[in-house]
Amino acid sequence: MSFLKKSASEPGKVRKASEKAGSGNAKKKDASHYISAKEAREIARSNAKEVRALEKFRKRRNVPESEYLTQMRDENNIVEFEDLHTYFFTDLGVSKAVNGVSFDVPKGKVVGIVGESGCGKSVTSMSLMQLVQAPQGQIVSGSIRFNLGDKAYDIAKMPRSAMCEIRGKQAAMIFQEPMTALNPVFTVGYQIDEVFFLRKEGISKEEAKEKTIELLNLVGIAMPERVYKSYPHELSGGMRQRVVIAIALACDPKLIIADEPTTALDVTIQSQILELLREIREKLDSSIMLITHDLGVIAQMADYVVVMYAGRVVEKGTAHDIFKNPLHPYTIGLQKSKPVVNHEVERLYSIEGSVPNPIDMPPFCYFRDRCSRACEKCAGEYPAMVKVSETHSVACYLYGEDENK
Ligand SMILES: Nc1ncnc2c1ncn2[C@@H]1O[C@H](COP(=O)(O)OP(=O)(O)OP(=O)(O)O)[C@@H](O)[C@H]1O
Ligand code: SF4
Ligand SMILES: [Mg+2]
Repeated sequence: MSFLKKSASEPGKVRKASEKAGSGNAKKKDASHYISAKEAREIARSNAKEVRALEKFRKRRNVPESEYLTQMRDENNIVEFEDLHTYFFTDLGVSKAVNGVSFDVPKGKVVGIVGESGCGKSVTSMSLMQLVQAPQGQIVSGSIRFNLGDKAYDIAKMPRSAMCEIRGKQAAMIFQEPMTALNPVFTVGYQIDEVFFLRKEGISKEEAKEKTIELLNLVGIAMPERVYKSYPHELSGGMRQRVVIAIALACDPKLIIADEPTTALDVTIQSQILELLREIREKLDSSIMLITHDLGVIAQMADYVVVMYAGRVVEKGTAHDIFKNPLHPYTIGLQKSKPVVNHEVERLYSIEGSVPNPIDMPPFCYFRDRCSRACEKCAGEYPAMVKVSETHSVACYLYGEDENK
């Protein structure tokens, strides 16, 4: 009999099977950390059923627009995430990578999304672009309302075929590693021109080149004519990231998603790229969703901050709220773990423990096992989001009443 290391299981049926395996003598109890071939088959069967249904929904063609037309809660927002759930149907069970995320991205503002590795920052942004790795990755429920000006679409309900209305036209993405985001066998000019050919009908080769050179100038590339003819490997890391930003800007997106745009760069180039993003935001009046695990980057750039932990938003507010008055013990821990210039410490603070397994989240606060302030109440159900001021909310039993009350 073959065994896979077991993390846990999602469907009720499978959980029962593993409980059965765990009952009885000590040997059997040890076996409860593994899934048997039978359990694996049950997980696979259950996954296949759910994924088939979700894929069928996503692959529909000729879907009337009315099915995914929606209304923004606030017209001043470009995007509104509401109770978004994006799961991965894996061989070990259902991994709840994004587990009920809600936040807004206001027009013309920078929203920083921060949290430790694996907390669901990228999956949240990939959900917005419908780029989650299918078929195992699926938006299961919730809404992602995107404001197109005269109307709004709910991306969570849109079929893939309609996404070309949003992706690249209204929202663009800057990826973490420019070398993998660019195609090594085509010149920079070819790769930027291609966006214009795809998005602007009837554009000539000369016009596309002119626009590309303009963009390369905008992103601060010296000698754009030369870079136009260069291949990605001939450029430095900073220049490559500028090219990736130019591609993202090629269609004047209303929203730019920058997923760790500076992580692969050295410190001086990092600050140049952040400065560039700031300038672009001012020039083009786009909104930016800035994803990073670096609080320093968020402090420099963001108007609003969303703190994520284990697939959920644990705190959100203006940058001032989060930096001057952090409330959630996780946010406080994150800030304490940041090195401060001229402040000597023997050892940097670190939050003890680790994130719970996304396949088997506990029924209580996900941070409880690492929280020094946990109280009796914290053993109860997951804390609701509580509004502590007009702009500041936190999901923790240490604060106020339910946000929705
Ligand atoms: N293709 C996939 N298959 C299965 N699980 C995945 C897949 N992609 C992501 N996940 C899981 O989803 C969770 C969230 O991942 P995500 O990439 O959003 O993290 P992140 O916050 O962006 O982390 P990082 O800071 O390291 O980029 C993680 O637990 C990850 O293991
Ligand atoms: S709800 Fe309790 S365990 Fe969770 S962060 Fe707040 S104090 Fe800590
Ligand atoms: Mg990521």
